[in-house]
Amino acid sequence: MRLKDKVALVTGASSGIGKAIATRFAAEGAHVVVNYRPGGKIDTDAAQAEVAAFGPRALAVAADVSKRDDVQRMMDQVISEFGRIDIAINNAGIEIKKPFLEVGDDEWNRVIGVNLFGSYVVSQICARQMVKQGDGGKLIFISSVHEDIPFPDYTAYCASKGGVRMMMRNLSIELAPYRINVNNIAPGAIATPINQAVLDDPTASKNAIGEIPWGRFGRPEEVAAVAAFLASEDADYVTGSTYYVDGGLTQQVTLY
Ligand code: BGC
Repeated sequence: MRLKDKVALVTGASSGIGKAIATRFAAEGAHVVVNYRPGGKIDTDAAQAEVAAFGPRALAVAADVSKRDDVQRMMDQVISEFGRIDIAINNAGIEIKKPFLEVGDDEWNRVIGVNLFGSYVVSQICARQMVKQGDGGKLIFISSVHEDIPFPDYTAYCASKGGVRMMMRNLSIELAPYRINVNNIAPGAIATPINQAVLDDPTASKNAIGEIPWGRFGRPEEVAAVAAFLASEDADYVTGSTYYVDGGLTQQVTLY
């Protein structure tokens, strides 16, 4: 058990990569705070029932990470339940496919609000608490290969992930004196609901797989395994890094 008795917050943990990380962390002995979007896919009752599967002292909290008040309320709940926070996984994320010429301010702000502002607020509130505790901590961002690789029709998404990359690099310096490790995981094409349309379309799916040297989509559990390492003491000297979990996608630059 790599995370015995650590308190770990996972944002956007009701599905996909977030859910896999919450499940893995519980198996590693952590107390997991399972954050999900209010009015989202799971309601409070379902969340309470489901959360038992994450571990004996898991806590489900509805909070919209794009709203500071929501995040503050969530953290107040975490502190009153567990008394501390050791690990924060900034996983909540959305994407909207739209040609740049047609993107509306509202769509732009929603994507930036959840992916970039949300990661900032959650990290700031958690880091302040970690500094107060005085014994370090781990901040992990679930970024994307698109923190680096362009993705036409997803400009807000790429801007948000590129922003997360720079935020992570800055924080790795600013928070090092407090022994808070800050790292990114950049997943490639993972079989999760965010990719459902592609997964359901045999041609799109085949094309996507054709771009991946490993020849298949990734599994959420494969991202969770790297998160478990980065959240553990084994990674105490790892900070300011991006870990690609993409089956080689990032290296696949072919000109012809
Ligand atoms: C996006 C997916 C995309 C993948 C690889 C992820 O960040 O959310 O939609 O399939 O990157 O391009």
